[in-house]
Amino acid sequence: AETLKVGVAGLGTVGASVLRLLAKHGDQIARSTGRSVSVTAVSARDRNKDRGFDVSGFEWFTDPVEMAEKGDIDVFVELIGGDSGPAEDSVRAALARGIHVVTANKALLARHGVALAEIAEANGACLNYEAAVAGGIPIVKTLRESMSGNGISRVYGILNGTCNYILTRMEAEGISFEDCLSDAQRLGYAEADPTFDIEGNDTAHKLVILTSLAFGTRIASDDIYLEGITSITTADIQAADELGYRIKLLGVAQQTETGIEQRVHPTMVPKNSAIAQVDGVLNAVAVDGDFVGEIVLAGPGAGGDATASAVVADVADVARGDRTPVLGMLAVDLKDYQRARMRLH
Ligand code: NDP
Ligand code: HSE
Repeated sequence: AETLKVGVAGLGTVGASVLRLLAKHGDQIARSTGRSVSVTAVSARDRNKDRGFDVSGFEWFTDPVEMAEKGDIDVFVELIGGDSGPAEDSVRAALARGIHVVTANKALLARHGVALAEIAEANGACLNYEAAVAGGIPIVKTLRESMSGNGISRVYGILNGTCNYILTRMEAEGISFEDCLSDAQRLGYAEADPTFDIEGNDTAHKLVILTSLAFGTRIASDDIYLEGITSITTADIQAADELGYRIKLLGVAQQTETGIEQRVHPTMVPKNSAIAQVDGVLNAVAVDGDFVGEIVLAGPGAGGDATASAVVADVADVARGDRTPVLGMLAVDLKDYQRARMRLH
């Protein structure tokens, strides 16, 4: 088979790791998919920035939309970020041209997922987004493929590495919220605007993607409750500790008698529970399936290398010829979701 040509838009924390991973494990991916994968084009704002690798061997685009429209590529990997602007414009342009898209951008999917899925399906393109939820944990494939024969009653977990890192270090080392946050930023865990992490929006973005996958239905999410961790103090953490609990930021979506309930908020979890053991940048996701029972996945929820692992798995799926339908799986009703968000802020 012909080499699969990949264009990587965004060469920051995740993009740089994707290039390193493909350079290191390209042969292994070719063996497992039957097709070699090669990065042919890249895009970022500043061509002269030191990224720890040479960009001169790739076709360079300062404008990702131009790469999506004109690049000699089969797959467009969007690692820019943001729910509009160049991320949205370039993904739309790639899909309209029938170019497969892989993205880690949960904000974009939470806002435009249905519209993008429609463009993808109309043009025979894949839209793969494993890295958008819980970093390196393969929860999208688990829900979409491994658990597809189950009725799901609940999906919940720790979905933001930055918040879990902050809460863990505040408890274990008594470090201030602000210092923990700057360390999370330095380590490449936080969003470009970290208020999305600490106010719970990032968890909400991931939760609506999980909800759409788990329940496979358009969701009137008037009932999403959103509360971040900005009001949590070291004293709160100590008080919880004395009572035998840890504080974790959870995202929960569950079927109730009146519909699907979605909420994001700090939660006291018993210290001896499995979820309380999930520390630092780790995430964990639990899913209740009616035939399989409860499945729990845990692992790195943020960071360049862990996220690149999920991004490249999606590229490998394209190389393998996997053409899972996107629409229907990404059936979030965005108008309802945005209304819910606006009401809560
Ligand atoms: P970074 O901020 O580290 O990198 C962003 C990249 O996009 C940079 O290379 C930047 O160029 C480029 N870029 C930004 N704005 C523009 C623009 N207007 N035009 C062209 N290029 C632009 O982000 P991350 O790598 O951390 O995140 C990328 C995506 O992955 C986001 O959607 C994020 O939510 C998601 N994600 C991140 C995870 C993480 O742990 N970091 C985990 C899971 C998902 P330049 O380098 O020249 O400034
Ligand atoms: N900022 C996100 C987090 C990145 O901390 O979880 C992974 O999606």
